[in-house]
Amino acid sequence: MRHRRGLSLQEAARSVGVPADQLAGLENADHAPLSDADYVGLVLRVYTDYLSLNGSRWETGPTRIVEARGVYKNYRTEELTVHALEDVNLSIGRGELVAVMGPSGCGKTTLLNTLSGLDDIDLGEIFIAGEPLHALSDAHRTEYRAHHMGFIFQSFNLMPVLSAVENVELPLLASGAGVKVARRRALEMLQRVHLVNKADHRPNQLSGGQQQRVAIARALVNEPAIVWADEPTGNLDSDTSQEVLDLLLQLNRENAQTFVVVTHDPGVGSLMDRVIRMKDGRIVGQQAINSGETNAHT
Ligand SMILES: Nc1ncnc2c1ncn2[C@@H]1O[C@H](COP(=O)(O)OP(=O)(O)O)[C@@H](O)[C@H]1O
Ligand SMILES: [Mg+2]
Repeated sequence: MRHRRGLSLQEAARSVGVPADQLAGLENADHAPLSDADYVGLVLRVYTDYLSLNGSRWETGPTRIVEARGVYKNYRTEELTVHALEDVNLSIGRGELVAVMGPSGCGKTTLLNTLSGLDDIDLGEIFIAGEPLHALSDAHRTEYRAHHMGFIFQSFNLMPVLSAVENVELPLLASGAGVKVARRRALEMLQRVHLVNKADHRPNQLSGGQQQRVAIARALVNEPAIVWADEPTGNLDSDTSQEVLDLLLQLNRENAQTFVVVTHDPGVGSLMDRVIRMKDGRIVGQQAINSGETNAHT
């Protein structure tokens, strides 16, 4: 079927969400050209395999939304080189809620910035939904980010001269939505973070928690597949932090979006599916919260 549709192995693999080498292996194993029914059967088998308990075989396939292999990132100053990331290997599934924890300076922000393509890496590979982010041009990476990623920062990073609704509609306008559509969707998003009544307020007329909820609305308004949050509750008191977190968790459940959240707060970590621990630029441990199992990372 893929031959008839003129698809390369890579394209077919990407369109059905399986690794190209696995697809090649399965196709070759069948020896004869595949009929449509066979092809559908093949894909179903691959999916069943993927979804079954025997997950390890497919763990590195593109249904992993984030895949980092052997990533190194250095910061060079005149006097010294900081090894901010060293041999980072990481795999995150669609819809997963992941916390990244570790002492200050261990590389958490660098991890987020490189995985999201905001920053270059020195060595290694990063795939987002099977796309080789490290190989895209700057322009393509920017476009990819605008369409597929949302960002939430500790300091909210709202534009002070814009109202809440204007801040939220920025990503929509940047990715080409019409003014009316952008306004309507921004208001809907503000509704979901319970701030539609503050739509005309500027950031300095809002509390910290309200500003962060505007920032969350801005991060989510484009319906990104991945949301990166760098200490989103770092500037909030504990009650407000809880509120913001509850909101993030609720949105994650509703939309099956992937969230990667850097945090110092062990309370936050325990709400996630998985905690990744970093030290000195390396991933030193991963803990699946639900099963409670702990693995040293290799
Ligand atoms: N732009 C930069 N120039 C030089 N060193 C940097 C830069 N950004 C971060 N670093 C260094 O890289 C290391 C990791 O920083 P960072 O990723 O910000 O850690 P974290 O977010 O865990 O606190 C630290 O030693 C930090 O000082
Ligand atoms: Mg940081």
